[in-house]
Amino acid sequence: MNAVGQPISRVDGRLKVAGGARYTADISLGGVAHAAIVYSTIANGRTVSIDIAAAEKAPGVLVVLTHKNMPRMNPVPWSHLRPQGQTYLPLQDDQIHYAGQPIALVVAATLDQATYAGTLIKASYETHSPTVFDLRTAKEDAIEPPQRMWPLSSSVGNADKAIADAAVTIKQIYTMPDRHHNPMEPHATLAVWDDAGTLTLYDSTQMVVGTRKLASVVLGIPEEKINVVCEYLGGGFGGKSWSWPHTLLAALAAKVVNRPVRLQLTRAQMYSMVGHQAATVQTIALGADRDGRLSGIRHDSVNPTSVFDDYVEYAALASRHLWRASGGIATSHKVVHVNRNSPVVLRAPMEAQGHFALECAMDELACATGVDPVELRLRNDTETDPYSGRPFSTRALGECLTKGAARFGWDKRTPEPRSMRDGRYLIGQGVAAAIYTHWRWPAKARVTLKNNGSALVEAAAHDIGTGTYTVMAQVAADALGLAPDRVAVRLGDTRLPESHPAIGSSTVANATAAVMLAARAARQRAVELALTGRDAPFDGAATDDVIIADGRLGLTKANLNITYTELLARNGISSLVGDGDYNPVEEVNGPKAIFSFSAVFAEVRVDPDLGLVRLNRFVGAYDAGRIINPKTARSQAIGGIIWGVGQALLEQSETDPVSGQYINRNYSGYLVPTNADIPELDVMFVGGFDEEASPLGAKGLGELTAVSVAPAIANAVYHATGKRIRDLPVTVEKLL
Ligand code: MOS
Repeated sequence: MNAVGQPISRVDGRLKVAGGARYTADISLGGVAHAAIVYSTIANGRTVSIDIAAAEKAPGVLVVLTHKNMPRMNPVPWSHLRPQGQTYLPLQDDQIHYAGQPIALVVAATLDQATYAGTLIKASYETHSPTVFDLRTAKEDAIEPPQRMWPLSSSVGNADKAIADAAVTIKQIYTMPDRHHNPMEPHATLAVWDDAGTLTLYDSTQMVVGTRKLASVVLGIPEEKINVVCEYLGGGFGGKSWSWPHTLLAALAAKVVNRPVRLQLTRAQMYSMVGHQAATVQTIALGADRDGRLSGIRHDSVNPTSVFDDYVEYAALASRHLWRASGGIATSHKVVHVNRNSPVVLRAPMEAQGHFALECAMDELACATGVDPVELRLRNDTETDPYSGRPFSTRALGECLTKGAARFGWDKRTPEPRSMRDGRYLIGQGVAAAIYTHWRWPAKARVTLKNNGSALVEAAAHDIGTGTYTVMAQVAADALGLAPDRVAVRLGDTRLPESHPAIGSSTVANATAAVMLAARAARQRAVELALTGRDAPFDGAATDDVIIADGRLGLTKANLNITYTELLARNGISSLVGDGDYNPVEEVNGPKAIFSFSAVFAEVRVDPDLGLVRLNRFVGAYDAGRIINPKTARSQAIGGIIWGVGQALLEQSETDPVSGQYINRNYSGYLVPTNADIPELDVMFVGGFDEEASPLGAKGLGELTAVSVAPAIANAVYHATGKRIRDLPVTVEKLL
C-alpha cells in the first residue's frame, strides 16, 4: 500500500502534545544572557537624548545599547528583500520612523532584570506629526513605488471601454484594515557565537536559509560562519518569513557581551516590530451583459507601506487570472508611505484581500443581473489564463462550484435577501470562488538509507505546523519501499541541504519533490548494489525489474528475498546516500499557467435586533492537485477557513491617528476566532494530479483555503440582511 494518499497522523503530534518539541524559546544553553527592547513612543521624529545611566547601574545589567554604541550594520540591498522585508536597521541612528521602533536594548543576567532596567531609560524626542493611513484620503496620496516584485499594472484588451459600453456595470470601493499575524509562539532569537567566530542563530523563522543570507550581509560575515536553526514553529502565517530587527540585535548583542543572548518579543512588541498585513482600499469596476457574462474588469488597489520600504500588496492580482472578460482586464497597485514598520505577507497575502473585492463585486453582479451566483461564476469560467493567454495546467474550478454547491444544498436557497429564516434569525447563504498562485522554487534534500533498514530525510526546509514532517516521510517511504514509520525527517537547519522558505504554500510541491528525488536516488544506489555489488542477488537483471516493498528487494512481489539491511551488510557499508536537486522552471516561463482553485459556501445566521453574525456551516471545495495526506490537508483547510472567519468578522489592527501607535496590541483587544465561533466545517478535494505543478502532482493548498472565506461570508450576510458591507470586518455596528 502506498503511504502517499493515506490520512496518516502527524509524526510530530505526540512530541508536540507532550511538550517534547523544542521551539526557539525552549532551547536552553548555559550562560545565556537576556535582552529586552525599549521602543519609541512617538511615530515620527528623532531622539534628542536617551538617558541610560540608571539602567546601566540596575542589578544584573551587562550592557545598554543605543544608536550611540550599537555596532554598525551593513545596509540591506533590495535584492535581499524579495519578496519582502524591512531595510531600516535598528539602533543605527537617531531617527524615529514608527511607533514601537527599538531605541535601546538592555542585556542582563535575567529577563526580569533586563525588562526592569529598560523601564529606567528616559528618552526625550523631537516630534513631527506622524503620517498615518487614512482610508478616506488614501487614493489622493497614492504613488507608484520604484521597487516592486511584479508589474504594478496590467492591461489586456480595453477594460475601460468594455465597462463603459456594458449593459450592466458594478463599481464599488472595498476596504479592509491592517491585520496582525498573532502566532501563539512569539518571535524569539537565541544568538550564540563560538570561539571560532561562528554565529548560531536559533530563530523563530519560516526561512532559515534566508535568515542566514540576510545576517551574512548585514553583519558582514560569510554565510559559512552562520548557522540558523528552527525545528518547530508555533505559527508563522508570513510574519516569520522575514528577519526582523530583533534577530540582528540579538546577534550583535551576543557579540558585545561575549555570551549567548536570548531575545524574545513581548506580545505588544510583535505589533510594531515584525510586520503586519497592510490595509487596502480597492476599487472594482465590472462590466457585463444582461446574462452576467463579463466584458470588462478594472481593479485598482492602494496600500500603506513604511516610509523606507515599498511593500506592495498585490490585491488586484486575482482579477488578472480568475475570470474571463471578453473586452479586457486592467489592474493597478499603488502605495502610501506612512509612519509604520514595513508590512509583510500575511496568510494569504494579496489573494485573500483581492478576492474580497472581486468576489463581493461578482455577488453584486449576480444580484444586478438576477443570475444565480454559482451559475454566474460557471458562465465566466475559462480554460485559458486571461493575463498570459496560456492554458491552465489543471483547473477544476467548475467542479469545485458544482460539487461544492451539491454538498452545501445550494439548490434549496431562495435568492431574495431576507427570504430565509430560522425562528427569529435571518439566514443567509453566500458563495465565492478563488484562484491561488502556485509557486515553483528550487530545493535540495538528502536521504540516507541506513543499515538498520530505516531512512533519514534532511533538508533546510520547514514544517511551519502544517504536517511537512509527515508528508515528507510518506513521500520518501514510497520511493524507498519502506513503511512511513521507518523514515525520520530532520528540517530547519542551514547545515542541511539548502531549501526554500515555508511561504506561499509551496513546501509539498517543491521541497517535498526534492525529497522524492533524493529518496529515488538512494533507492537507485541500493538497486545497483543488488544488481552489481558483492554477492549481487539479482546479477544480470535490469534496474526496472527490481521491486522494493517493506524494506525488502526482489524480482517479484512474491519473492522479496533480500532486505536493505542484508544488502548493505553484504557490501560492507553502513548507509547509502541519495541527493535530490529539484530545479523547476519559473512558473512565468512555463508553457502552462499553474494555479490552485476553490469554491466555498457559507451559511450565516444574523440576529435581526443585535446585528450579530454567526457562522452556521461552511463547505469548501478545493482543487490543489493531488492530495498527499488527506488528514493534514483537511486540517489545513479547516485552519484556513477559521483564519478567513477572523478576516471576515473579527480582525482589525487599530491605529491612533494622533500618536500613530497601535491601540489594540494584545489578544484581548485584537479578536481572533475561538472554537466557540466555529461550526461544522465540511471540506472536499476535487483536483487531480497536476504534472506541470510538481513531480508529486500537488499544487499549493494551505493559503488557498484562507482565500474567499471573507467574501462568501459577506455575501451570505447580504443575503440574510439585504445590507452590503464593503468594509471588513463585518461587525455589529456596521449592520445595525
Ligand atoms: Mo505565507 S503569508 O506565504 O507565509
